[in-house]
Amino acid sequence: MTYNEIDTLVKGWIIDKAEGPVNARVQQVVVRLVGDLCKAIADLDIQPSEFWKGLEYMSEAGARNELGLLAPGLGLERFLDIRADEAEAKAGLTGGTPRTIEGPLYVAGAPESQGYARLDDGSESDQAEVLFMQGTVRGQDGQPLPGARVEVWHCNLLGNYSFFDKSQSHFNLRRTIIADGAGRYQLRSILPVGYACPPDGTTQRLLDQLGRHGHRPAHIHFFVSAAGQRKLTTQINIDGDEYLWDDFAFASREGLVPPVRHVTSPQQIAAKGLQSPYAEIDFDFQLHAETPVAPEAVVERVRAAA
Ligand SMILES: [Fe+2]
Repeated sequence: MTYNEIDTLVKGWIIDKAEGPVNARVQQVVVRLVGDLCKAIADLDIQPSEFWKGLEYMSEAGARNELGLLAPGLGLERFLDIRADEAEAKAGLTGGTPRTIEGPLYVAGAPESQGYARLDDGSESDQAEVLFMQGTVRGQDGQPLPGARVEVWHCNLLGNYSFFDKSQSHFNLRRTIIADGAGRYQLRSILPVGYACPPDGTTQRLLDQLGRHGHRPAHIHFFVSAAGQRKLTTQINIDGDEYLWDDFAFASREGLVPPVRHVTSPQQIAAKGLQSPYAEIDFDFQLHAETPVAPEAVVERVRAAA
């Protein structure tokens, strides 16, 4: 069957059958995707049993809530970022803190505080290295943005996120920090570790078929926003992780790997009220000003809320 014949068939199934009001955008996307899928079925001679296996896989991935993990694992979430970068560059927006993927584990409603927050509940203090991270939120002109909103979330030492991992306390390792009058934020937490896709999940099952691992290097997620500025979705990576440049979700980027200082001086440790060495990271965020020329930076998607 030729591509033209396939296009005629798909048009007959979808466009010509419309009787009621049509959402033109939805119709456009569905016609394209169904047509492309039919072409792939034809080109690859996909057999009915293979087709149903694929459909069953997607159903199971949805039922297990793993589609949000599959999208970054196949590079699709990274692709959306590449396109957003391209659109911004075209609109003349360059520089600033690089964006990277959100992932599926944000939870809205974390406790808010001014200038500083401690993220961890202390339950892993025995095994963890304490982390202090601080910096300034700036605009593209380099000027600080007082009152900027820094939403931060990361996993615990087992690689699990609170809310999704019900064994953790409410909002453990999740906070919203409002930058002070000088645009400064500071947080205390624990150095997170890397993690991997659930080994018995649908994402890892597919990765196994592709000969790929499902590991992410240690990282911390951020949403940074301020009045009149484009919202930034990003992460920083913890330098030194073995998967730093081999992330299954393709989220590592130059500019998002700040140096980690491991502080061992007894005086400095005592000054922080600690008993053991701690880690320190300085990181400034730089946002772009709102502009009607670039596509909306706020991404609408269903997110958990607690
Ligand atoms: Fe993550």
